Amino acid sequence: MTQRVAFVTGAMGGLGTAICQGFAKDGYKVVAAYHPEFDNKDEWLKEMAAEGFKDFVCVAGDVSSIEDCQKMVAEAEANAGPVDILVNNAGITRDKMFAKMEKDQWDAVISTNLTSLFNMTKQVSAKMAERGWGRIINISSVNGVKGQAGQSNYSAAKAGVIGFTKALAQELATKGVTVNAIAPGYVATKMVMAIREDILKSIVDTIPMKRLAKPEEMGGLCSYLASDLAGYMTGATLNINGGLYLQ
Ligand code: CAA
Repeated sequence: MTQRVAFVTGAMGGLGTAICQGFAKDGYKVVAAYHPEFDNKDEWLKEMAAEGFKDFVCVAGDVSSIEDCQKMVAEAEANAGPVDILVNNAGITRDKMFAKMEKDQWDAVISTNLTSLFNMTKQVSAKMAERGWGRIINISSVNGVKGQAGQSNYSAAKAGVIGFTKALAQELATKGVTVNAIAPGYVATKMVMAIREDILKSIVDTIPMKRLAKPEEMGGLCSYLASDLAGYMTGATLNINGGLYLQ
């Protein structure tokens, strides 16, 4: 079998890094997509190489732009081959109580965290269906499932991710392409560490496991969803949140 190609957006963030490393260990060719304004790419590549991950193909683009997504996927196909596994992971926060939230904070989060799924998935899903195999993994959030004060934009986008996942899963169910979502809880990444210390402490106090998740605990689930063994799972939202919210 030829080496499968996995395309990960937001690849150089905390979660993205763990997902890329997991996929590399699984033997996939990994395409690491990053925002053109991310200025630590060389440092990231050095760190990866020092940890033994030397073969990442990097592509730059803004996932909220469909033109950028077209270009990134074309570049990935040219340098790595057709995309078999897509992880829609790129995401941002612009936390504000709704009363104080500005329209640009709403728009930025919806376009980066939700419209990006249209932009990226559009580039690969029909080709996966034609080839009869594919995996689309969308990163939602516990806060898309339960809602979070201060995150009406983010909760709306991440709930949208779940709706998108369920609809597309049905459309692709007979084509060998699965579509699933992961709803992580609070993971020890830059995004979470940016929460004010006292607020973060009070959040951790409400988590039954009394700790943040490790990024690799999310990477492990992505590896499973991307595998052949997960072939019968589609349209699912997998909660992985230390018991913070139980459905
Ligand atoms: N429920 C209801 N009301 C709340 C509340 C809550 N959980 N938290 C705060 N409030 C109220 C406060 O009591 C306060 O009310 P008064 O003005 O009447 O006193 C008002 O809302 C303002 O609260 P803050 O003082 O906290 O306001 P702020 O402007 O300083 O901060 C905030 C607002 C930035 C949204 C801050 O509350 C915050 O960071 N909250 C955490 C949000 C969060 O969990 N973000 C997750 C980021 S990580 C991530 O998103 C990854 C993932 O997927 C999990």
